[in-house]
Amino acid sequence: MNILAFAATTSRSSINKALVTHAARLLEAGLVADAHVEIIDLNDYEPPLYSIDRQDEGGIAEAAQRFFDKIGAADAVLVSFAEHNASYTAAFKNLYDWASRIDRRVYQDKPTVMLSTSNGSRGGRRVLDTATSTAPYVGADLRASVSIPHFSKNFDLSTGELTDPELRAQLEAALATLGAR
Ligand SMILES: Cc1cc2nc3c(=O)[nH]c(=O)nc-3n(C[C@H](O)[C@H](O)[C@H](O)COP(=O)(O)O)c2cc1C
Repeated sequence: MNILAFAATTSRSSINKALVTHAARLLEAGLVADAHVEIIDLNDYEPPLYSIDRQDEGGIAEAAQRFFDKIGAADAVLVSFAEHNASYTAAFKNLYDWASRIDRRVYQDKPTVMLSTSNGSRGGRRVLDTATSTAPYVGADLRASVSIPHFSKNFDLSTGELTDPELRAQLEAALATLGAR
């Protein structure tokens, strides 16, 4: 199973990238049989700021088409959302808006697990709620979602692993759903 993974942020020190990398290791360590995870960086997918005029003048931005095609080529998707002002980061929203102009069903019916984390007590729960509540309309076969609060308390950056056993169990249970038919 080829799983496309990314953090929905362009921060080079992203905590969501750290979480998604941890999740990828767990998947490849046997949580899902024959899992191969490719982690992409949204810095490599940066279209110009979306506007209907830009689309009318130049068509779909190349970076958005590449991002859409990456999802299309995968068997499943794993995403961890950074929360900016209770919503998506501008970088992700821009890419997502472009991709939705190719097809509203951006996730292309792929089995999908959605995560979020922040150092706050809600762990990005508000952006995760936005993403999960709209999943049916954007073609995500949403299998599970987990938000990780207080990232710096619950994650050891030196080992790259969640330290809280309850949160780790929640994450593992969510990831394992990608292996179910
Ligand atoms: C513009 C901006 C808005 C933010 N808004 C929120 C917020 O609404 N909720 C929250 O928990 N953290 C918020 N944060 C803190 C982010 O959770 C924090 O920067 C986190 O590291 C972002 O994830 P990333 O490192 O994966 O990019 C905000 C940060 C920025 C820069």
